[in-house]
Amino acid sequence: MEVSICEAEIGHEKELLNLFKKVVTIPDGIIRKRHEITANYINGFYEKSLENGLVLFTKSKNSIVGEIHAYTPSIYAFQHILTDLTIAIYPEFQGKSIGKKLFQTFLEIVKTEFHHILRVELYTREHNKRNVAFYKSLGFINEGRQQHKIFNSKSKLETPLHMTWFNPNYLK
Ligand SMILES: CC(C)(COP(=O)(O)OP(=O)(O)OC[C@H]1O[C@@H](n2cnc3c(N)ncnc32)[C@H](O)[C@@H]1OP(=O)(O)O)[C@@H](O)C(=O)NCCC(=O)NCCS
Repeated sequence: MEVSICEAEIGHEKELLNLFKKVVTIPDGIIRKRHEITANYINGFYEKSLENGLVLFTKSKNSIVGEIHAYTPSIYAFQHILTDLTIAIYPEFQGKSIGKKLFQTFLEIVKTEFHHILRVELYTREHNKRNVAFYKSLGFINEGRQQHKIFNSKSKLETPLHMTWFNPNYLK
C-alpha cells in the first residue's frame, strides 16, 4: 500500500475530527468517550502540538489515514517533555505496520531535531497488552501503574500505565 508520512500544517482539523470519531469506536483504544471527540478537543491538541510540539500524518492518496501528536506544556518546569502523546490510525488501515512506521518516524525526528526534549510520555490501558507491547517495542518503559486513575467505558475504575521514552540525544 502506497502511504507517505509528512509533518502537519494548519488546516486539517475537519479531517482529524473524522479520524478520531472513527477511532473512538474501537474499544480499549484512546481514553475518551464518543461525545468527547469534539472540534474543541481536536483544535486544542492540534494547536498546542503545532505551536510547541510535533504532529505527523500518514497519508494515502492525499487523505489522512493516521496521525500522531504530542506537545510541551507551556510552563518552564516541563520544557523538556513531550506529553499526552496520542496516535490514531483509521480502523481499515490498522495492522499494516502504518502505526509502527509513523511512531518510529516521530521518535526519529525527536532524536534528530528535538534535542531539548528528554521525555516523551503517554498513558495506556494496562490490560491492552497489544498496545503495551507495541510501546515497549519502540523503547518506552513502564513508569508505573496509576491506581484507578480513569473510568473505563463501562463506568468501572481502571488503572492505566504511565510510559516514557527517553531521548538519547537530549542536550541540557
Ligand atoms: C494502536 C495503533 C496506533 C497501532 O497502529 P497499527 O498501524 O494498527 O499497528 P501496526 O500494524 O503498525 O503494528 C504495531 C504493533 O501492534 C501489534 N499489532 C498490530 N496489529 C495487531 C493485531 N491485529 N493483533 C495484535 N497485535 C497487533 C503488533 O505488536 C505490532 O508490532 P510488530 O509488527 O512489531 O509485531 C492503531 O491500532 C490504533 O489507532 N488503534 C486505536 C487507537 C489507539 O489505541 N491508540 C493508542 C492509544 S493513544
